[in-house]
Amino acid sequence: MLQQLDQIEQAALEALEKVNDETALEQWRVSHLGRSSPLMKTFDQLGSLDKELRPAVGKRANEIKRALESNLAEKSQLLQQAAVLRSLESERLDVSLPGRPVAHGRLHPVTQNLRQIFQIFAEMGFQVYRSRDVETDEFNFQLLNFPPHHPAREMQDSFYIAGEYAEDNPLLLRTHTSPGQIHAMREYAASNPDNPPPVRIILPGMCYRYEQVTARSEIQFNQVEGLAVGKHITLGDLKGTLTDFARRLFGKHVLSRFRASHFPFTEPSAEMDIECFVCGGKGCAVCKRTGWLEILGCGMVHPVVLSNGGYDPAKYTGFAFGMGPERIAMLRYKIEDIRYFWANDMRFLEQF
Ligand code: PHE
Repeated sequence: MLQQLDQIEQAALEALEKVNDETALEQWRVSHLGRSSPLMKTFDQLGSLDKELRPAVGKRANEIKRALESNLAEKSQLLQQAAVLRSLESERLDVSLPGRPVAHGRLHPVTQNLRQIFQIFAEMGFQVYRSRDVETDEFNFQLLNFPPHHPAREMQDSFYIAGEYAEDNPLLLRTHTSPGQIHAMREYAASNPDNPPPVRIILPGMCYRYEQVTARSEIQFNQVEGLAVGKHITLGDLKGTLTDFARRLFGKHVLSRFRASHFPFTEPSAEMDIECFVCGGKGCAVCKRTGWLEILGCGMVHPVVLSNGGYDPAKYTGFAFGMGPERIAMLRYKIEDIRYFWANDMRFLEQF
């Protein structure tokens, strides 16, 4: 009987060796540990055995049962691990595949240029002062020393706005950022009317002119105005500040010059040119054979403008300038048509 049990065990273990999937394992369990397996039948037969034999046979049969059960558990675990490995292998995820690209937004080229200009002036101690887009004739022109019917207004044809206003003071979209000079000076002066504090600001923003749209002029464009007012400000400060600005924006070897000009709100007035960086000053199509590129208008703040802003021209002087960032971007990147900036053509915008 004990010998028979040894054989049962051996046969079962040999059969288990050959099992290599879960179904075969289940079959093996049924035939070697199931109700009608030879081992289980041995338990049934125990009662009919001789009394002396019973304990030894019973003990051995239990040992075999435990052995088979633990072998079964071990095998089952091995098969599960193998199944996991197989599925990892066959359902492999290739993480090296390139993903779907996410379109990356970026700043508009003019915004990029504006920020660079802000940065340069910030380093020179200028703060950004925001001023309104809708102005009155008084601020856009009169307080800046353009009386009604003054011929200098011809340069700045305007978009007028319907609304309530005095006959001689219509509303319009600002044609330049210069009216911000008056707003800013009045605000600064209000803090201490008898001894107003110095001003050192830039005023960026959109301006609007009723122009025929061409490659060189748009009906809307940005300007960056600059204003410095104080007790000892000279033309030398104006030239030094703007020359340094041009070097920081265009490179430290850039040459610049000031040409006499006229604006009603500055006296004297000038236009600033930089040496053409396309031809190096020799003369080409970009600089129209002059060797120079105009980048801004400037001058010493007119005494009338200072007093309109609340600053006594006997005690204070100042300089102001105004530049067009689109124009400057056109020069820097050799863009030949200003209309590209607001045409929303991705092929243009994606180049910056
Ligand atoms: N406002 C002038 C323009 O639009 C530019 C300017 C600003 C000139 C400040 C002098 C001083 O043409």
